[in-house]
Amino acid sequence: MSGGGPAVRRLSDWDREHLLSLAGEFGSPLYVTDLRRVRENCLRLREAFPEAHVSYAVKAHAGRAVLETVREAGVDAECASAGEVERALDAGFPGERVRYTAVNPPDADLDHVVSRWESNPEMTVTVGAADTIDRLRERGFDGRLCLRANPGVGAGHHEKVTTGGHAKFGIPIDRVPDLAADVREEFDLVGVHAHAGSGISGDDLSAHRELVRRMGDLAREVGGLEFVDVGGGFGVPYREDEPPLDLAAVADATREALGEVDAQLAVEPGRYVVADAGVLLSRVNTVKEVPETTVVGIDAGMTTLLRPAMYDAYHAISNLSRPDADPVSTIVAGPVCETSDVFADGRDLPDPERGDCLALGNAGAYGYEMASTYNSRPRPPEVVLDADGPRLARRRETLHDVTALERTASEHIPN
Ligand code: LLP
Repeated sequence: MSGGGPAVRRLSDWDREHLLSLAGEFGSPLYVTDLRRVRENCLRLREAFPEAHVSYAVKAHAGRAVLETVREAGVDAECASAGEVERALDAGFPGERVRYTAVNPPDADLDHVVSRWESNPEMTVTVGAADTIDRLRERGFDGRLCLRANPGVGAGHHEKVTTGGHAKFGIPIDRVPDLAADVREEFDLVGVHAHAGSGISGDDLSAHRELVRRMGDLAREVGGLEFVDVGGGFGVPYREDEPPLDLAAVADATREALGEVDAQLAVEPGRYVVADAGVLLSRVNTVKEVPETTVVGIDAGMTTLLRPAMYDAYHAISNLSRPDADPVSTIVAGPVCETSDVFADGRDLPDPERGDCLALGNAGAYGYEMASTYNSRPRPPEVVLDADGPRLARRRETLHDVTALERTASEHIPN
């Protein structure tokens, strides 16, 4: 498959000098996102699934520059909240290219989405509970509706991201046909949907295949649908020596498992589009020799990149400042007062010194989006790269931003 460039961009493929100059110019920690890579990944998906409707799961990276790039690359937007719908519309996606997937939606989300649907009536709303349909009806929604099934099978890189089969998500698949028959009169029933989980590797292909097979059966039983959406979840390699997912093989397995269906296949990956388009740059602020190891304290923490703390996720780390120094075994830790604020334990790194700039790979997906201000730490800025050079896409948060929502007792107005 061509798809514009190699199937995976490793941390070692980034231009070291360029990253060092960005850290010098914009400070650290710093997210860097290469929009050219986002574009290539969209193309790669469209080539692997030429007959399918491809959406991007906005939750992986909701920055405007990324959304505009995805839109221009012909990939649509799958949104998990009113905020994501707003961002997709703001980034220029027309209503017909926006799908909102409601997961136990708060009233405020439904209010907002229905009000946006009124001026964008081609938007699709996916529901994972029958009572969400009642709540949509109460708000006057009678538009394009998709039913999310719980397919009873799931997969993912961690139990916390294995969605399919979890009671929280979707309507038990055997109840979907009756519900579909009930709602057809009133709504424009356009699709059925399921999502196995996130970070599916080659080893999980059998679970993916089984999900698709069940969804094919469901689509045939329900009939008269525009699309059958089998979710996203395509994994990317996080370790430098991990083989990339063979997207063409996944696409073939998907087609084969789906079988003959009178509805368009739809997929909605997030990670695959942005993971390897992003790196996180961070400077070493503390080097502490202890008997068993060297603790390398950096200025990014679990508040900057949560994945290692939350899922024990592996991110490649390189020392951009000293690539040829002798490796030493290290613990790479952040500045947050939590034991889980550790990026790596027992990782060999070229002998880090205070001031060195490290790069953490594959930070483009679920990186900035999961950042927080815990420990009152401002979130980092993001620089995007494109043919015309680097550009600040999100500025660094300041301490003032972190406290801006606070009100003192004297400012309190009783209601
Ligand atoms: N569709 C639905 C309905 C989803 O819930 C998700 C992800 C996706 C698509 C996209 O999955 P992807 O292609 O990105 O794997 N924070 C976790 C991942 C959580 C994913 C949640 N849902 C992580 O950092 O690994």
